[in-house]
Amino acid sequence: MLNISVLISGGGTNLQAIIDACEAGLDAKVVGVVSNRENAYGLKRAKKHHIENHYIGRNYTSRKERTEVLIKTLEELNTDLVVLAGYLEILDASFIKAFENKIINIHPSLIPKYAGKGYYGMKVHEAVIRNNELYSGASVHFVDEMVDTGQIIIQESIKVNQDTPETLQKRVLAIEHRILIKSIEKIIHHEI
Ligand code: GRF
Repeated sequence: MLNISVLISGGGTNLQAIIDACEAGLDAKVVGVVSNRENAYGLKRAKKHHIENHYIGRNYTSRKERTEVLIKTLEELNTDLVVLAGYLEILDASFIKAFENKIINIHPSLIPKYAGKGYYGMKVHEAVIRNNELYSGASVHFVDEMVDTGQIIIQESIKVNQDTPETLQKRVLAIEHRILIKSIEKIIHHEI
């Protein structure tokens, strides 16, 4: 069974999708949730499902200490896979090294478009609409030391209709949940 630790910063609907998939029979277990925001709703989701959860953020003075505590926490959870689900912190190279090829991220665009520094959350959908893109979508990729640049695992696109950034975000989020689970299934079955 794959031990998954999920890093969040916000609402945690992607985390919820993983929790629900595990409860529905996915051969994995969410062993821990870590947020860099103390009030992230995703922490409440973890508590509701009796999943160990930690706030690791400004309660640690230095980035170095935060990273050391994060690595130690995930190692103590016997983490096999780290899932970044709306985690808005740039991970230190030492973290990437500690979990090399075991970190995946869900991004709300068709990478490499609208990815990298400054492209996250609603900013992505606002830029897609502003540029009159015909298509948008979501991507799951392995995390390397740059931002949103690792090997793509799954991408899925949708046509941009008369969308507002809000309606597009909602439609893309549904794709995120689906391809995130599909990506984890691929990893469980050693298809990647
Ligand atoms: C999602 O749009 C995800 O693609 C992005 O941050 C958002 C997180 O949403 N990385 P949630 O916290 O999982 O609901």
